[in-house]
Amino acid sequence: MGHYTPENIVTNEDLVQIMDTSNEWIVERTGIEQRRWFNPDKDTVSNMATNAAKMAIDRAGIETKDIEFIVFATITPDYFFPGSGVLMQRELGLQGIGAIDIRNACSGFIYALSVADQFVKTGMYKTVLVVGSEIQSSALDKSTEGRSSSVIFADGAGAAIVQASEDQSGILSTHLHADGDHAEELYVKDPGSSRKVRLSKELIEGKTFNLTMNGNAVFKHAVVRFSEVINEALEANGKSKEDIDLLIPHQANLRISNFVQKQFALSDEKVYNNIMTVGNTTAASIPIAMSQAWEEGRFKEGDLICLAAFGSGFTWASALIQW
Ligand code: UT7
Repeated sequence: MGHYTPENIVTNEDLVQIMDTSNEWIVERTGIEQRRWFNPDKDTVSNMATNAAKMAIDRAGIETKDIEFIVFATITPDYFFPGSGVLMQRELGLQGIGAIDIRNACSGFIYALSVADQFVKTGMYKTVLVVGSEIQSSALDKSTEGRSSSVIFADGAGAAIVQASEDQSGILSTHLHADGDHAEELYVKDPGSSRKVRLSKELIEGKTFNLTMNGNAVFKHAVVRFSEVINEALEANGKSKEDIDLLIPHQANLRISNFVQKQFALSDEKVYNNIMTVGNTTAASIPIAMSQAWEEGRFKEGDLICLAAFGSGFTWASALIQW
């Protein structure tokens, strides 16, 4: 695992300077104390992912040229097309290998991990690079009108090397779901291709280029789906909640994580949260959390790790990993 978070720290007090909000409201409702927003002169979605990937490559003890395929999860690509996967492939000097983008928002990393897992299990590839990288801050409405989402979302990247192995460790199973009925509860509408004109002054003024979220609806569905999909992963592997050594939930909101923790009666040591310092980084959230949890010694060989996510789409997913 590896990660990269932009240097630029944005505290709740910084937000108080640009919108009508308060540190107390943000901490109480979301748990976030600070987040990272990218530096437009330095950070791109693909180069943040490259930085995270280099850390993962180094820690995995492999060489960059060992990577045979790239799965890149992002809903904030550098270009409208092509995807950011090919841009990172170029930055890593891996011209020629396949690269795909996954656009499943907060569940994107688990979807990407699942794709990599299938390729490895079928024997098509031995070493796959999986990343989640996002720049959300440039899509946020930073006025008071947009405060309920702009205080949450943030930028960053995380990466994993998924490799074939002969022992029993690794990805035990992944579980992927979606319900398009709720597509507009959390979305960025423009620049939509089905518009007669993709870009216009009216569209910009209408704020349809900004992230729009019905926070209450997302929250209500999230707490139900998180539990369902964690249970699904446990049942599929004949495990119970007592077997979980570390739950790493997508960092949507600390209140959601705490709710899930209670439902599964997990102690504080068994749940990893870093939303307090990195905010909600969509597809990058789980790999950044895994990378930081590993650095902090929160899991060790043989541990059972459960990943779970919920987000735009709606999409939700889980993975059970024997480290
Ligand atoms: O990554 C996956 C997707 N995202 C999520 O999982 C997010 C899920 N949803 C949430 O985390 C919460 O719904 C939010 C944190 C977004 C909002 O919290 P809430 O407790 O649902 O607040 P609310 O939207 O119901 O708003 C409550 C009040 C409103 O004021 P009134 O109408 O009661 O006077 C809002 O205008 O809080 C106000 N408010 C704020 N006040 C200060 C909303 N945002 C802010 C803010 N600062 N940033």
